[in-house]
Amino acid sequence: MFDSIGMAMNLFGLDVLSRVLHVGTAITLVGGSLFMAFVLLPSLSSVEDETRQALVQAVRGRWKRFVHGGIAIFLISGFYNYFRAMPKHEGDGLYHGMVGTKILLALVVFFFASALVGRSAVFEGWRQNPAPKLRVMIFLAVVIVIISGFLKIRGA
Ligand code: HEM
Repeated sequence: MFDSIGMAMNLFGLDVLSRVLHVGTAITLVGGSLFMAFVLLPSLSSVEDETRQALVQAVRGRWKRFVHGGIAIFLISGFYNYFRAMPKHEGDGLYHGMVGTKILLALVVFFFASALVGRSAVFEGWRQNPAPKLRVMIFLAVVIVIISGFLKIRGA
């Protein structure tokens, strides 16, 4: 009996950690993307071309670490949340449909974010003009947060 209490305590700690990491990553990455799309990039339109290029390069180099680290944390904590939530939602088609949609949308956002901080020549056009892609990512992220919030409040 003490063992099962101990086990529950351990998973409780992990559940909290996973949630904090997941939500903390969402705050950091979605907040950073909003800042870039609606504050940094518009403010740069009045900056001289050469300075702008240099600044954008430097920002991209630093932001890249957040994007790669964030994607890893999202995937690990997200799948952990998913496996913990599964037993509570057996046969719950709405839950699985919505979580599946959310995960697919998240993968699309990860792809866009990686392309924008990456080096592939194929996406150079995106990097030259990142604002439209950032807006799509932010829109998808809002949909993802709405789905996640709904599932959380709806419960088992
Ligand atoms: C753009 C990426 C993502 C964002 C912005 C995001 C955001 C969120 C938010 C805000 C919550 C609600 C947490 C709470 O209310 O406690 C959540 C829960 C969750 N997320 Fe994510 N997430 C993302 C990616 C992922 C990925 C890739 C997975 C799975 C691999 C995932 C799986 C889950 C699960 C299973 C839950 C719990 C849902 C429930 O309450 O039953 N998420 N996410």
